Amino acid sequence: MKNRKGIILAGGSATRLYPLTLAISKQIMPVYDKPMIYYPLSVLMEAEIRQVLIISTPRDIVTFKELLGDGSKWGMEFTYKVQEKPAGLAEAFILGADFMGDDNVAMILGDNMFYGNNLSKILKHANEREDESTIFGYYVKDPRAYGVVEIDKQGNAVSIEEKPEKPKSHYAVPGLYFYTNDVKEIAKTIKPSERGELEITSINEEYMKRGKLKVEKLGRAMTWFDTGTHDALLETASFVQTIEKRQGMQICSPDEIAYRKGWITAEELSNIANKLIKTDYGKFLKDLAENKIGEE
Ligand code: G1P
Repeated sequence: MKNRKGIILAGGSATRLYPLTLAISKQIMPVYDKPMIYYPLSVLMEAEIRQVLIISTPRDIVTFKELLGDGSKWGMEFTYKVQEKPAGLAEAFILGADFMGDDNVAMILGDNMFYGNNLSKILKHANEREDESTIFGYYVKDPRAYGVVEIDKQGNAVSIEEKPEKPKSHYAVPGLYFYTNDVKEIAKTIKPSERGELEITSINEEYMKRGKLKVEKLGRAMTWFDTGTHDALLETASFVQTIEKRQGMQICSPDEIAYRKGWITAEELSNIANKLIKTDYGKFLKDLAENKIGEE
C-alpha cells in the first residue's frame, strides 16, 4: 500500500476564542485533561500514520515543539513548519510539499475531535483508497458554519460549498481530508477566496470536477466536534469528562494508542506514566502498562 503521511494544521489566529487566544495557541488549550492537539493527533495515529508534519504560527511553533518533541516518545516522527500568516487551510500542502515527497497525505485540523466505535474502520477504508481522495460528511442540524457537501448514492460529491447561507444538504465536512499526492500541485493552482484565504473547499471542488472525490458518511453514532468557539470548547471538554469518568478509559490518548499499536513498549509507557502519576490520566497509563486494564 502507498505510504501516507499526516499533517496537523495548528495555525490561525483563533479570533473566535478571544481573549483566550490573545497570547497562546488555540490548539494547546485544554480539552478537559489533554491539550487540544492530542485529539487530532490520535486520529492520525488510529489511521496508522507515524510521520506527521505540524504546522503552526511563528509565535506558537515553539510551544508545540516543547509539548510534542520529535515524536520518538510515541514511536513516531514529527516535523515542524511555520505558517507565517493565516493564508488558509489549503496552504498546508504548499508548506508541506517537501515533507510529502511522493506519498499520499491525510490532513487534520488541530481543533477537530472525532470519537466513535467505527472510526478505525472508516479511517482504514479512506487510507486504502490510493488513487482517489476522501472527505467525510457529518449530518448536523445547521451546517452553515462549515463546508457543506451534497452526496449521491454512490458516495460521490455532487456539490460542495464553503459556509453557504443556504446549504444544499445537512452534511458538514469535518476537518479531516485524505488526499492523493497531486494535492501539492492543486494547492498551487487555486485562487484565494473573497475572505483572502486558500480554501480547502477549492481543493475539494477540484477533485470533484476530476471525479476523484469520495465522501464517507460518518454515522450518527460518531461524535465530531470542532472546538473553535467558547461553547464548543466547553461542550467538548464536558463530553470527554463524562465518558472518561464513566468508563475509566481514555479518549484520544496518544500514549495509549502508541502502546496498543506496539509502537512503544510497556516499559516506555510506564516511564511516561510516572511523570503524570498525580493525575487520573497518568494512573490510567500506569495500569495499562501493568496490564490492569481490560481489552477495550
Ligand atoms: C474549516 C473549513 C470548513 C470545515 C471546518 C471544519 O472552517 O474551511 O470547510 O467544515 O473547518 O472544522 P473553519 O472552522 O476553519 O472556519
